[in-house]
Amino acid sequence: MMERCPTGIPGLDELLEGGFPRGRVMLLAGGCGTGKSIMATQFLYNGAVEHGEAGVLVSFEQNPKILKEDMMHMGFDLQKLEDEKKLIIVDASLSGIAFPERAGEYTLSTQSSFTLDSVLGIISKAVQTVGAKRAIVDSFSALDSLIETVKTYGSSNTENVRRTMLGINYRLQSMGLTSVLISDVLDDGKISKYGIEEFMVDGVITMHYNVEGPDAGRHLIVRKMRNTKHSENINTIEFERGEGVRVHSL
Ligand SMILES: Nc1ncnc2c1ncn2[C@@H]1O[C@H](COP(=O)(O)OP(=O)(O)OP(=O)(O)O)[C@@H](O)[C@H]1O
Ligand SMILES: [Mg+2]
Repeated sequence: MMERCPTGIPGLDELLEGGFPRGRVMLLAGGCGTGKSIMATQFLYNGAVEHGEAGVLVSFEQNPKILKEDMMHMGFDLQKLEDEKKLIIVDASLSGIAFPERAGEYTLSTQSSFTLDSVLGIISKAVQTVGAKRAIVDSFSALDSLIETVKTYGSSNTENVRRTMLGINYRLQSMGLTSVLISDVLDDGKISKYGIEEFMVDGVITMHYNVEGPDAGRHLIVRKMRNTKHSENINTIEFERGEGVRVHSL
């Protein structure tokens, strides 16, 4: 039996034989507003509060101040975790480029810091500083722009993506992290931008939000989870202010 990393998200661990496979990389994919950021943050927050496992949150989309305000509404006091050295937020939101004078130790504040090696280097430093066991990248799709800058001579773009993805996987695993990479999906049938990223991770969870029709509502599907006899159902999810996401199996 493989060691598990419990998410603490109500209803989710039961679908996964107790949690994510520990030390592996998951992809959390969904359209806009499906709840990816909230759910991933909940995984980090619960790790710190319930299991004493520090986390690293890499934010490409929101600057940390706004992110903390939003997550506070869901009941996740990220500032407190930072103060207690249980969390480091890596600010890759471009706010460091706009306001370099406000940049902190974990802010990407120069164009040259937006490379894959440099981002992984900062993650590694953050992981060592707090002894992190969990990490989330919000979103991994933003890292795509880094993928495209990787020049591998004589190979196709797909091959570049594959190599880069395997490299990221390997680096995150070798840091001892259980990681969640968020994938922003434009149309509901897809899981990732290039259509191959999902093959290289150990788990894929998709989130859906149908505003009308017979499938109206919010859903979560465990699309793949290696080494796990996972749920094969379409599960419903709901948000509760002050609590985060809750998963209901049908
Ligand atoms: N208190 C609440 N009650 C019900 N639903 C809420 C509440 N707060 C947030 N939501 C829902 O959660 C969504 C935001 O969740 P989240 O930011 O995690 O989505 P996301 O998938 O990361 O979106 P994006 O792709 O835009 O980053 C909102 O659009 C809203 O539908
Ligand atoms: Mg988001």
